[in-house]
Amino acid sequence: MNDVRKVITASQNKWNNLAEEDIYKAIWCSRGEVTSDWDEATIQCLEVILKSIPIQPEWKVLDLGCGIGRLTKPMAAKCSEIIGVDFSVEMIEQAKKYLTSVCNVRLVQNNGMDLSLFEDSYFDFVYSMITFQHIPSLAIVENYVSEVARILKSGGYAKLQTCDGDSFASGMISPTLYHGHISKYCFQRILNQANLSIIMIEMGLIRNDWIWATVKKD
Ligand SMILES: C[S@@+](CC[C@H](N)C(=O)[O-])C[C@H]1O[C@@H](n2cnc3c(N)ncnc32)[C@H](O)[C@@H]1O
Repeated sequence: MNDVRKVITASQNKWNNLAEEDIYKAIWCSRGEVTSDWDEATIQCLEVILKSIPIQPEWKVLDLGCGIGRLTKPMAAKCSEIIGVDFSVEMIEQAKKYLTSVCNVRLVQNNGMDLSLFEDSYFDFVYSMITFQHIPSLAIVENYVSEVARILKSGGYAKLQTCDGDSFASGMISPTLYHGHISKYCFQRILNQANLSIIMIEMGLIRNDWIWATVKKD
């Protein structure tokens, strides 16, 4: 576990630096270039996250790897309570500013490895976007998925996105920042292992190499 802790600390430092250098570029860019479509892309991402999710105004929601709160903000308008969690203190500090006008949100820093800050069966919906592909340890991705299962209520939903490992082979993404070592089949195995029921696994939404899992806790 010490080795994993070291890897996560290095990753945490990297994200703190990225947040200080250019937060918008760190959050939403295309192959290292900032795109001008922040608002438009946010709407599109929210639509994909909520696809097949029967979101209700009374729901409690978790945004795992929330960054600046790009998606937390519009999601807050659709639920009663939302928590944004991220392992980068710089991201959390900047999210507090970005979400200053939002009253039903709480932003917390975690250890980058688990969701022990949250009690069992608390959330109706957990989502995570552009985060798993940056985690340099498959064991931590597995742990996060099993933690998602633990903190979801029975009947709760999750939408979890990662990046197709085969994209490395085609040179589409840089291995220095992206660690997307998860194939669609590996992701399915991790979800099954956590006893989450797979509603659907999709690719080709927003970016061709992204894998989206819609799952439910029975
Ligand atoms: C590209 S940003 C995406 C932020 C947000 N999900 C969005 O789509 O706007 C990736 C975020 O994941 C966070 N992150 C990376 N590894 C993490 C880990 N092991 N635990 C928690 N957060 C992590 C980073 O700090 C960063 O804020």
